Amino acid sequence: MKPESISSMFDAIAPNYDFLNRLLSLRRDVYWRREMIQALDLPKKAMVLDVACGTGDVMIEILRQKPDAVAYGIDFSKKMLHVAGEKTRQSEYFSQTGLLAGDALHLPFPSNQMDAVTIAFGIRNVADRKKAIENFLHVLKPGGKLAVLELNTPSRGMLRALYLMYFQKILPGIGGFFSKNPDAYQYLPDSVLNFPAPSGFAALMQRAGFSEITWKPLTFGICTLFTGQKE
Ligand SMILES: C[S@@+](CC[C@H](N)C(=O)[O-])C[C@H]1O[C@@H](n2cnc3c(N)ncnc32)[C@H](O)[C@@H]1O
Repeated sequence: MKPESISSMFDAIAPNYDFLNRLLSLRRDVYWRREMIQALDLPKKAMVLDVACGTGDVMIEILRQKPDAVAYGIDFSKKMLHVAGEKTRQSEYFSQTGLLAGDALHLPFPSNQMDAVTIAFGIRNVADRKKAIENFLHVLKPGGKLAVLELNTPSRGMLRALYLMYFQKILPGIGGFFSKNPDAYQYLPDSVLNFPAPSGFAALMQRAGFSEITWKPLTFGICTLFTGQKE
C-alpha cells in the first residue's frame, strides 16, 4: 500500500482507534506498551522519540513511568496526531510532550540526540523498513536504545488455528462494523501475516546497525517486543 493510502486509512479510523484497540486486543495493547517502556530502563530526564505515535498512547506511557522524561511523537496521519494532541493536552504531562507531523523515513532530528526511540505497531506499515531503522539509529545517542512492538501470529498448533480464525474472520468484522472502514480492518491481518518472523526482523535490525538485539514473545506470541542498542 502507498504511504498516502496508509495515512488516509489511519485518518479515517482515528476517532475509533483507541476504542477498537482495547476491544480487539482485550486491553492487551495497554500491557504490551507498558512492557516496552519498562524494557528500555530509561535514564533520568530521558529524551525519547516515539515514531508512528498514532494517538499518543506510547508517549503517555513513557511519561507515566518516567515523569521527568521528554517524549516526542511523530506520525504522518494528521487525524491520529489530532487525537494525540487532545490526549496529551488533557494529561498532566503536556509540557513534556512534542508532536510532529512527519514520516518515519525522514526524521527531523539531529544525530545522537535521543536516549531511546520507540515504535509500536508502526514498522509493519513502513515500506522501507531498513531505512527507517537506520534513521532510528541515526537520532539515537551512543548507548541509546530502540524498542519495537509488532504484532505476529502464534507459530503453530491449535492456538495458531484458533487465533487465525479470530484474526482473519472475526476481527475484520468487528473492526469494520465499529470503524465503518472494513478495508482498514482487513489490512490489519493482511499486513501482520506479511510481516517477517521475529528472527527475520531481528536480523534486519542487525543489518541496520543495531547491537544487543533481543526479542520476546508476549501473549502467546501474538505480539513481539524487540530491543536493540546503538554502540
Ligand atoms: C497501528 S497505528 C499505531 C499507533 C501507536 N503507535 C499505537 O501504539 O497505538 C500505526 C501508526 O503508524 C503511522 N505510520 C505508518 N507509517 C508511517 C510512516 N512511514 N511515518 C509516520 N507514521 C507512520 C500511522 O499513521 C498510524 O498512526
